[in-house]
Amino acid sequence: MIGHVTVKKGGFPQKSQTLILPLFTADLKTNKILKQIDQKSSGELSEKIKTHEFEGKEGQSVSAENISGYKAVLLLGVGEKKEFSLIQLREGVAKALRAVRMMKFTTVDLFLPEVELSFQLGKHLALAVHLSNYSFLKYKSKEAKKKHTVITEANLILSQPAKEKDVLLMQEGIRIAATIDLGISLARDLVNEPAIHLGPDEMVATARSIEKESKGLLKVKVLEEAECRRLGMGAFLGVAQGSDKKPRFIVIQTVSKKAGKKKYVSVVGKSIMFDSGGLSLKPGSSMEDMKMDMAGAASVLGVFKTLVQAPDFLRRIADQMELSGVIPACENMPSGKAMRPGDIVTALNGKTIEVLNTDAEGRLALADAVSYAEKYLKAEYIIDLATLTGACMVALGNDLAGAFGNDKELIKLVVDTANHEGEGIWELPLYKKYLKQMKSEIADLKNIGGGRMGGAITAALFLSEFVKKAKWVHLDIAGPAFRHEPPQGTLPHGASGWGVMTVLGVITQLINV
Ligand code: BES
Ligand code: ZN
Ligand code: ZN
Repeated sequence: MIGHVTVKKGGFPQKSQTLILPLFTADLKTNKILKQIDQKSSGELSEKIKTHEFEGKEGQSVSAENISGYKAVLLLGVGEKKEFSLIQLREGVAKALRAVRMMKFTTVDLFLPEVELSFQLGKHLALAVHLSNYSFLKYKSKEAKKKHTVITEANLILSQPAKEKDVLLMQEGIRIAATIDLGISLARDLVNEPAIHLGPDEMVATARSIEKESKGLLKVKVLEEAECRRLGMGAFLGVAQGSDKKPRFIVIQTVSKKAGKKKYVSVVGKSIMFDSGGLSLKPGSSMEDMKMDMAGAASVLGVFKTLVQAPDFLRRIADQMELSGVIPACENMPSGKAMRPGDIVTALNGKTIEVLNTDAEGRLALADAVSYAEKYLKAEYIIDLATLTGACMVALGNDLAGAFGNDKELIKLVVDTANHEGEGIWELPLYKKYLKQMKSEIADLKNIGGGRMGGAITAALFLSEFVKKAKWVHLDIAGPAFRHEPPQGTLPHGASGWGVMTVLGVITQLINV
């Protein structure tokens, strides 16, 4: 976590280098803070408003230097009050903070707009600070690291008299944001890490360190190759067999001494440490990013990383829920030992799969993971996160994850939560008629459909064949897991950590219903 966030009482002057002032379109003439700082300058800011350079529209911003003790003042448009959302404010503030960093300043006073003070306000504003501070600098030179500017201090300044209770709620939100940030940053680090340094064993090590941090609230179980074989995970092992790195099937789960009826919830993450395509080798340019094919698993570990930072909450979860993370970690590589197109493997649930394309490997590994969750962890609810198909990116673009499922209520819970947390998502249909594309002439299933059309749907349908009774949602995160665009708001270049917030939100709601 980078950056210290505090709530402060209003008034001038504060001590930071810069000021960010979010403004609604209707407040341009009436905002008291703006009036005060403008009067102390030569009217530079009011001029920008007069000339309509700044109208307070969402995402708009203007800045001026050396005003009222500040080295820089940024006005940030937050649009119309009736359309206000915390996510929009979070992203606007994150963008403004990036502008502050570009100017090489590190401390900020953020004057709060006149909105209700709440836990969520504190949480999202602190997330704006922490998440926009993230960069993957591990492999940069010392000099580059030194030059890198981050926001070290952000003060959230109350613009109106506030009740003590509301301030406490905001502070609680700020505290929780720090734990969420640790989870998201871990997920981002794992995805950004090159596959040479992050194989199945390193995923195990990461899970083990979270287990250790949990002080007995979590336990990790690792199934090695022989054990996977004994259980009959032919699909997962088929994917792994071409690589020199040994597969590891990782389970991380809550421990509780409290008896009583519990919900069984499993979060499954695709964990292909590198996806070369196998013998159905990917072309070079499609392979460039394939270290990110474990982003689903990274988010699962991110969720548990957050939970161990909040032991009281984790204990509450453990008392009401058997929560598990399931990570079938392996590498998809070509070699003399690799699975061949045309090979038939037998999955944990006994179904046989004709593997016609070894690049459609995620569904094979996940098939066994989902079956395992239901058979051995008694999962009643399963959420899987997977960078599963390029087709989902074609359908939804880079911002949105595709959501599929077999239970309307659970899909709605997941989609609503993602929207609430500001993670892009769109429901796609689990259209049963296409399932016949996945039927094989000589086995129960084949691992690719007829053609390229509807590829995200046929992949989801394939997975659905491995879910028995559980309520299940599949999230295809191939698009949003990894970004090629420049940083934007809370999102950096590269790994995004998509899913950590959504899954945490879903778990929170599942213990409350
Ligand atoms: N890991 C890829 C999907 C992917 C593509 C993720 C691009 C992120 C960015 C997956 O294993 C894959 O290769 N899927 C194939 C399936 C096809 C062979 C049916 C695809 O999408 O092309
Ligand atoms: Zn693949
Ligand atoms: Zn893959």
